[in-house]
Amino acid sequence: MARVGIIGGTGVYDPSWLVNPKEQIIETPYGKAQIIEGPLRSRPGQSVVFMNRHGAGHSVPPHQVNYRANIWALKSLGVKRVIATAAVGSLNLAMPAGSMVLVDQFLDFTKSRPDTFFDGSDGRVVHTDMSSPYCRATRSRVQAAGARAGVSLVMGGVYVTTEGPRFETAAEIRAYRLLGGDVVGMTSVPEVVLARELGICYATVAMVTNFAAGISQTALTHQEVLEVMGSNAHRLREVLLEVLPDVGEEFACECPAGEPPVRS
Ligand code: HPA
Repeated sequence: MARVGIIGGTGVYDPSWLVNPKEQIIETPYGKAQIIEGPLRSRPGQSVVFMNRHGAGHSVPPHQVNYRANIWALKSLGVKRVIATAAVGSLNLAMPAGSMVLVDQFLDFTKSRPDTFFDGSDGRVVHTDMSSPYCRATRSRVQAAGARAGVSLVMGGVYVTTEGPRFETAAEIRAYRLLGGDVVGMTSVPEVVLARELGICYATVAMVTNFAAGISQTALTHQEVLEVMGSNAHRLREVLLEVLPDVGEEFACECPAGEPPVRS
């Protein structure tokens, strides 16, 4: 059974799932990453690694998350598949607050983040295929697990990643809608890109917490995002608990193998 990883925010990790979970700091060439790991109580052969993207107490803003250290750490632990969770705003009236979307594409509007392991420093030029950044087979398993748990998930959607930490203007949201965006958040890029570079299968469950700027008639606040996330976290946990034994199984998918890491 393969090790699986969960990258999530507050409210996703439930200590009762794991037997004797251990906290660890993993040293990487890009800095430290913190994880919690343990065998799944419902299937002791299945090891699960939890990572809190924004650090303890949600103290790291999206543009300063050390994405490279996080993904490198998961790779070095032998994690084969990652399910990430993310709070998002919605640009799509068919995806109101509380919707969970298994996004299949992204649009990248980030500006200032280290977003590759292949920065040229070792003399290698690597261009990673990004046609299907999110693993379809893993997404299907999450959707099926959701159905078993009585939680419906939308299969597919375009995740617009903005730089943040500010929310968007109403004009930006109008533009992103014209470009085909469904949901907007601040973290999927470069996380999914780095996972693809190293050949980790990656899927995101995007939890809609609000209609995006200009669609919502009220000003957006981080508090609102946290509240809606908090009141839906139990549904997300049910889906994750149901799918975790499943994603550790060997199964075929179309994701490319990735490149070996450049540094050791
Ligand atoms: N915009 C960007 N990120 C978000 C939003 C939003 O409206 N809601 C939750 N995360």
